[in-house]
Amino acid sequence: MQATVAPATEETFESLAQKVDEALSVVNTIDGHVKTKALDLKHAIEAFHKFALTKIVQKLKADPRGKELLFDLVDDPSVYAMLQLHGIVKPDLSTRINRVMDAVRPYMQSHGGDVEFVRVEGATAFVRMHGACNGCSQSAVTLRDGVEEAIKHNIPEIQAVEVLPNEPSPNLIQIESLTSAKNTSWVKGPAVAEIPAGKKMRFDTEDTSILIINVDNRLNAYRNACPHQGMPLDGGMLDAESCELTCPWHGFKFDAVTGECFSAPQAQLESFPLRIEDGHIWVRPN
Ligand code: FES
Repeated sequence: MQATVAPATEETFESLAQKVDEALSVVNTIDGHVKTKALDLKHAIEAFHKFALTKIVQKLKADPRGKELLFDLVDDPSVYAMLQLHGIVKPDLSTRINRVMDAVRPYMQSHGGDVEFVRVEGATAFVRMHGACNGCSQSAVTLRDGVEEAIKHNIPEIQAVEVLPNEPSPNLIQIESLTSAKNTSWVKGPAVAEIPAGKKMRFDTEDTSILIINVDNRLNAYRNACPHQGMPLDGGMLDAESCELTCPWHGFKFDAVTGECFSAPQAQLESFPLRIEDGHIWVRPN
């Protein structure tokens, strides 16, 4: 009698990788000595493979024809994954920077901020900061320094990290409040183009004086009144570098992005909702 043999299923790169993952998950459920021995075996086999693979890559790289062949081989995802697993080839810079971003993101988010990788040029990485990481407060500066340090530490090829200004955007407000208040109490202000980055402008409605400030292309609207004694702020000095607005009357200093007062923590600029429509700034004084 003839035995029936089931047709062998052809293995794919994914199915093989899945088998490795499954075996490893099983090993990780084992306790104690057996698990240590199993992992030792895994590391020993990997080290053995890495040693031989490194020799192959070195030989191929040393010969122009071999180098060309090596580049062809690395285009194959399974070869690339194997070499990457052994640390013989590194992912491209963008992928590695994004991995660092992913690692620091939970910390940034737990502090109300976020970071976005934009691009890399030469040895410089460009990022954008959001939320609490944007602005000039000490905590924002600390978060930005943290991102820069993490990138440079993990990716030595990157020597500088530049923070790009955000696109012009108003303070975030709830959509519902936008729609409910539209056409009732929004007032049209100056054109966006009239207030370039680092500048401020006053405009007055019938009963409210408003100060628009542009820091790094981020627009904010405040009541044009210092919380100290209610004097107008539009004659104050705006330091675009430090994002600091200084009241011209008694020198109170404010974070021009958040309205936070550096001189007296209990004081705060009164912020108004702001939106941009057809190139114009609209503000809703409370
Ligand atoms: S009125 Fe601004 S500091 Fe006094």
